[in-house]
Amino acid sequence: MQIVAFDAPLGAELRGLDASRPVGAADAKALRRALDDHLVLLARDQKLDDPALLGFSRVFGELDPPGPNPYGGPFLSAFPEINVISNVVEDGRPIGNLGAGEAVWHADMTYMEKPPKAALLHALEVPEGQGDTYFANQFVAWQALPIALRRRIEGLYCVHDSAHNSAGMLRRGHRKTLDVRKTPGARQPLVRTDPATGARALFLGRRPHAWIVGLDVGESDALLDRLWAHASDPRFVWRHRWQPGDLLVWNNLGVLHRRDAFDASARRVMHRTQIRGEQKIA
Ligand code: SIN
Repeated sequence: MQIVAFDAPLGAELRGLDASRPVGAADAKALRRALDDHLVLLARDQKLDDPALLGFSRVFGELDPPGPNPYGGPFLSAFPEINVISNVVEDGRPIGNLGAGEAVWHADMTYMEKPPKAALLHALEVPEGQGDTYFANQFVAWQALPIALRRRIEGLYCVHDSAHNSAGMLRRGHRKTLDVRKTPGARQPLVRTDPATGARALFLGRRPHAWIVGLDVGESDALLDRLWAHASDPRFVWRHRWQPGDLLVWNNLGVLHRRDAFDASARRVMHRTQIRGEQKIA
């Protein structure tokens, strides 16, 4: 296996990997190291059934089940650890989450005290030239933040909304709230320190329904808008154009991602897993 860094603010391609085969100890260590170093890993042309996706995902840690989906029970009852990301509707029932609309910038499930530390997404069917996914490096975003703004946000906490998913859909069991001070979800520091490397990163979660604890709502909105404009600046972003068989792995705590909308009549089907985060964000 070769790890070839992209000419981009993050990311590397894994060449010569067959993720459907058992991964030996040396390769497993190299893969974890590559994820720490490059934050997003891409392997093309992977033919993975669901047990193989689960097996490869475990290279990166213990599996973390997906959050509650808007439609009730798991999409794949035989594999509840797998989330399906899809716009396809069969027999009147969506086979997956997020539909065909844009998914706004976010990190996954940061509304939990211990959010997942990594995620994997395997493309089974993708519409050609549409539904690209973008990743923004929050370590370099922090480093590039003006010093005065760094000082301003050190020690501040933000509420990470647990009520909506990144497509803006209300999660099951939640009600709409208009006052961001009542947004449900974990309160996370705006800046986190990676426990393994000591590197610092912006940690914003998602913009809608966010509130910086203790600030006046107008002040919080203005500061969040400024931080989000910075965090998603194209200088920190790599864009992925999907092909069937692509397998992406990303660091969920140091990277934000978003997805373009695509033609709702096209089919896009992806299977996704995530890796448990062991620690509270600090
Ligand atoms: C996600 O936000 O996890 C899904 C990304 C995608 O559909 O490309």
